[in-house]
Amino acid sequence: MSTLTDEISRRRTFAIISHPDAGKTTLTEKLLLFGGAIHIAGAVKSNKIKKTATSDWMEIEKQRGISVATSVMGFNYGDYKINILDTPGHQDFAEDTYRTLTAVDSVIIVVDVAKGVEQQTRKLMEVCRMRNTPVIIFVNKLDREGRDPFEILDELEAELKINVRPLTWPINIGAKFKGVYNIYENSLDLFTPNKQTISERVAIDNITDPRIDEMVGEADAKKLREDIELIEGVYPEFDKTQYLEGKVAPVFFGSALNTFGVKELLDCFCEIAPAPKPVQTEERLVLPDEDAFSGFVFKIHANMDPNHRSCIAFVKVCSGRFQRNENYKHIRSGKMMKFSSPTAFMAQKKDIVDEAYPGDIVGIPDTGNFKIGDTLTAGEELHFKGLPSFSPEMFKYIENTDPMKSKQLEKGIQQLMDEGVAQLFINQFNGRKIIGTVGQLQFEVIQYRLLHEYGAQCRWEPISLFKACWIESEDEQALEAFKKRKHQFMAVDREGRDVFLADSGYVLQMAQQDFPKIRFHTTSEF
Ligand code: G4P
Repeated sequence: MSTLTDEISRRRTFAIISHPDAGKTTLTEKLLLFGGAIHIAGAVKSNKIKKTATSDWMEIEKQRGISVATSVMGFNYGDYKINILDTPGHQDFAEDTYRTLTAVDSVIIVVDVAKGVEQQTRKLMEVCRMRNTPVIIFVNKLDREGRDPFEILDELEAELKINVRPLTWPINIGAKFKGVYNIYENSLDLFTPNKQTISERVAIDNITDPRIDEMVGEADAKKLREDIELIEGVYPEFDKTQYLEGKVAPVFFGSALNTFGVKELLDCFCEIAPAPKPVQTEERLVLPDEDAFSGFVFKIHANMDPNHRSCIAFVKVCSGRFQRNENYKHIRSGKMMKFSSPTAFMAQKKDIVDEAYPGDIVGIPDTGNFKIGDTLTAGEELHFKGLPSFSPEMFKYIENTDPMKSKQLEKGIQQLMDEGVAQLFINQFNGRKIIGTVGQLQFEVIQYRLLHEYGAQCRWEPISLFKACWIESEDEQALEAFKKRKHQFMAVDREGRDVFLADSGYVLQMAQQDFPKIRFHTTSEF
C-alpha cells in the first residue's frame, strides 16, 4: 500500500484560467485525452465531448451554453494523479472562479496569441498574486495569425505583473507555423497542419544542431537561433524555486486545437508544479502529511441530479486521509458527521470513494448543512482561511412577488447565499434586501433558481450603487457619527458587519476625506 507521502507527492491540483474563447475548454479536453480519461481524439468540434469535458449539470447552463458551475476532473497520467478544477468561463461568475483558486496548488493561464492578455485574465491573475499561486502560461492558437511572441512576452509581464520565462519557442506563426523548439529539453516538435498529433519530435543536441536547418529550412533556423540567443540573453535561466514562489511564470507556445505543444506543457507541469502545499488556518499551518484529516468547502453545487433536490459540497482535502464513514467534525456547527457516499471525480464520472488524499476534491451530498468556507476535521478546532468576499459590481433590491411564498423566498435566498451565488446586504435604513453580484447574469440565475428550486417568485428593483465598502475604525464615536450621517446608505452583510453603500466614486472619495478615522475596504477581510 502506498504511503500518505507517496500519494501527496504524486498529486497535482490546478485550475486552467483564461478569458472566454482563449481555448480553456479545448486545452482541458486535450489534457483529458492524454490522461486516457476520454478517448475521442480531435473531437473539439463535437458538442458532446465539450459537454462531458466541462461539466454542466445545471439546467440553466445547458440553456445558455456557458459553464456556470465549477467542476472537477481527475485522471492519472503516468505516476501522477491530476485534478483539474474547472472554472466558469463567463465573467459574470468570476466570484466562483476566485473561490476555486483557493482550492488549487497552481494555475495554468491560457492566452490567445492574437488577443494577448484580456481583462478577465488580468483580474484572475490578481487573485493568484494575492496567494502567490505558481502560474504556467500557455500561449494558444499559434496555427492562426497572431502577434509577435516577444511582444506577447512583454505584454504578459506588464499586464500580469509577473516575470516570464519561455520554455518553448514557436517557429513562425499562422500559416507559416512550423513547430515549437523545446528550450527546456532541447528538442524540436514539427507541426503539420490538419493533423491531430505531433508529426515528428526530434531530439537534438542543442540549438546549433544542423538538423534544424534540414527540418525547418535555413532561413527559419537562422531566425530561431537569433530568437533563442535573445531569449537566453534577456531572460534569466528558469528557476523552479522562483516559479514555486509565484515570482516567475514559464511560458509555453502551442495550439490546443491541434494537440500541439500540449504534451510538453503537461510533462513539464507534472515535473515542476507543486504537490499539495501546507495550508494556513486561523490557528496554525496545516501540513498535508499530518495523519489527521482536515479539509474545507470551497464550492457548493445545487441540484446536480435533477431528480434529487440536494446539493453537493466540494471539499478540498488538506491533510491526512479522508475516509468514508469516518466521523468528522463540522467546525462551524460543532457537530460530528459521517459521510456514507462521498464521491470522487474521475474525468466526467463521479463515483463513490472510500478514501481521498490531500489535493483531492471530494463531493459530499448535502441538504443545507454546509456553507462556503466551512472546515471539516478529525476533531481539532481549525478554521481554514478562505478568500475574502470582494465588493460586488452590481446591486439590486430583491422583492417578493408572491406573498404566499415569503418563507420559501427567505429560505431560497439564504441557501443561495450560503452557496456563494451572490452577496446579501440589508439596508439599515429601510430594511430592504439588496443582492450584489459581479454580473447581470447572476440575477437571472438567482431568479430562475428561486422559482425552480424553491417555488418562490421575485422581482428586481434597480438601485444605483458604486461599491459596497466594509468599514472599521478604532474610534467608536467616529464610527457611530459616520453611521448616523450616512444612515440611508448603511447596510449589514450576512455576518452582521457594517457596510457603507457608496453610490458613486465621488461620494466614496468625499466620505474618505470627511471621515479620516474610518477605514473603507472593498474586500470583507482586512
Ligand atoms: P474557452 O473554453 O476558453 O472559452 O475556449 P474554447 O476551448 O471553447 O475555444 C474557443 C474557440 O477557439 C473554439 O472555436 C476552439 O475550437 C478554438 N480554438 C481553441 N484552440 C485553438 C487553436 O489552437 N487554434 C485554433 N485555430 N482555434 C482554437 P469555436 O469555433 O468557438 O468553437 P467550436 O465550434 O470549435 O466548438
